[in-house]
Amino acid sequence: MKKTISGFSKFSKQEKIDWIVNTFFGDSKNATKTLNQYWNSNQILQDLHDDFIENTISNFYIPYGVAPNFIINGKEYVVPMAIEESSVVAAASLVAKFWSTRGGFKATVLSTTKIGQVHFMFDGDFEEIQKYFKAIKLSLISATDSITKNMRKRGGGILDIELRNKTSELENYYQLHVTFETKDSMGANFINSCLETIANKFRNDTIQIVMSILSNYVPDCIVRAEVTCPVAELYQENSEMYAKKFLQAVQIANIEPHRAVTHNKGIMNGVDAVVIATGNDFRAIESGAHAYASRSGKYRSLSQCEIKDGVFKFWIEIPLALGTVGGLTGIHPLAKLSLEMLQNPSAKELMEIIAVAGLAQNFAALRALTTTGIQQGHMKMHLSNIIKQLDASEEEKTYLLNYFENKEVSHSAVVDAYERLKE
Ligand code: HMG
Repeated sequence: MKKTISGFSKFSKQEKIDWIVNTFFGDSKNATKTLNQYWNSNQILQDLHDDFIENTISNFYIPYGVAPNFIINGKEYVVPMAIEESSVVAAASLVAKFWSTRGGFKATVLSTTKIGQVHFMFDGDFEEIQKYFKAIKLSLISATDSITKNMRKRGGGILDIELRNKTSELENYYQLHVTFETKDSMGANFINSCLETIANKFRNDTIQIVMSILSNYVPDCIVRAEVTCPVAELYQENSEMYAKKFLQAVQIANIEPHRAVTHNKGIMNGVDAVVIATGNDFRAIESGAHAYASRSGKYRSLSQCEIKDGVFKFWIEIPLALGTVGGLTGIHPLAKLSLEMLQNPSAKELMEIIAVAGLAQNFAALRALTTTGIQQGHMKMHLSNIIKQLDASEEEKTYLLNYFENKEVSHSAVVDAYERLKE
């Protein structure tokens, strides 16, 4: 049977499902049932989800959890997290509780500048294009007046436009490098509309516009989050020795890219979960964070640690271009609910909360890695997933959960215990 199709986008939802299940599935009835199981019974809500993207045939759920007891700049928060990986929410909760009795987290937004670029080709003298740019710069800004009007009222808008000569890297290549302040919005649509208007005004017979688009690399949209306490208060026993191991783990992530990638993945466990729960764009955040981690020319840790005069300090600086208005934040009912749970933060406050979630996650992982190892806690949380794969009854599940209360969990150990139970 032919597995390609033309005009698919014009099919109704049911026609799309029928074609997919009949073309790609041996048991088309079962495939349809699985897709239908995830539809929302509230038709209005389902229609809303159908329209978020194109060719929607079902919903793909990930769990929505909460981590209580976060104290950030003296304010109490319950942090919503959307994530499929076990032990992330437990780790965030554990660390929030731990630091709540040690002064909580301190967070500060260092900068909020966003960037967009008009990329163009010009086959002439640099002085010539520089002269043209200087002459037209103010009218490039005023050409966007109708787009920036409301943003300017809120204190944002275009900050500057710079002409950048990139011809040493690519023949004839120049940029208009535009900086923006977008206040509580992430600003993607706003920035792209401004850039396209600027490009239209800027173009002439000698300038070939290649493209106009925002950059997800935002090294001047940075937030810092930090925890600190006396080394003696960090661990119940051997605090100095474990604090030193923790520090060494961060130092290793700073110089060894293989470790840095996993270290930063642990940070993004916390960051992405809150970014998704609040309806923000996690791909933009991910690409921006990893680019920032490579800014020295080598991929490094996003967090840093210091032990000085008996005081432990652990912090992160991370670029986070976020919004609390616009995009999905105002449309997705759970994104709205998350923002209300966070007491309707400004974009700056959300940057602080999300940086803290990343730091907390990193702290949990490093503490586990440098003491018991990661598997003990992770597998404890993963136990119920393993039991589910075994199709165990409620009674068997309870037995297995009790049995592994004080035993090491591994996939094979759970399977063995289940098989012994069945004998
Ligand atoms: P524990 O000390 O055994 O937990 O930690 P506990 O049972 O004693 O409970 C203490 C507190 O932990 C609870 O307080 C909760 O706050 C939280 P309470 O609510 O009772 O007042 N907690 C939970 N919260 C919700 N549901 C639960 C739950 N259990 C505990 N079921 C824990 C257990 C897993 C938290 C700990 O071992 C831990 O933090 N481990 C690290 C886990 C981790 O980092 N997971 C991330 C995924 S691994 C990964 O992908 C990243 C990595 O590769 C990154 C890297 O390499 O850097 C590791």
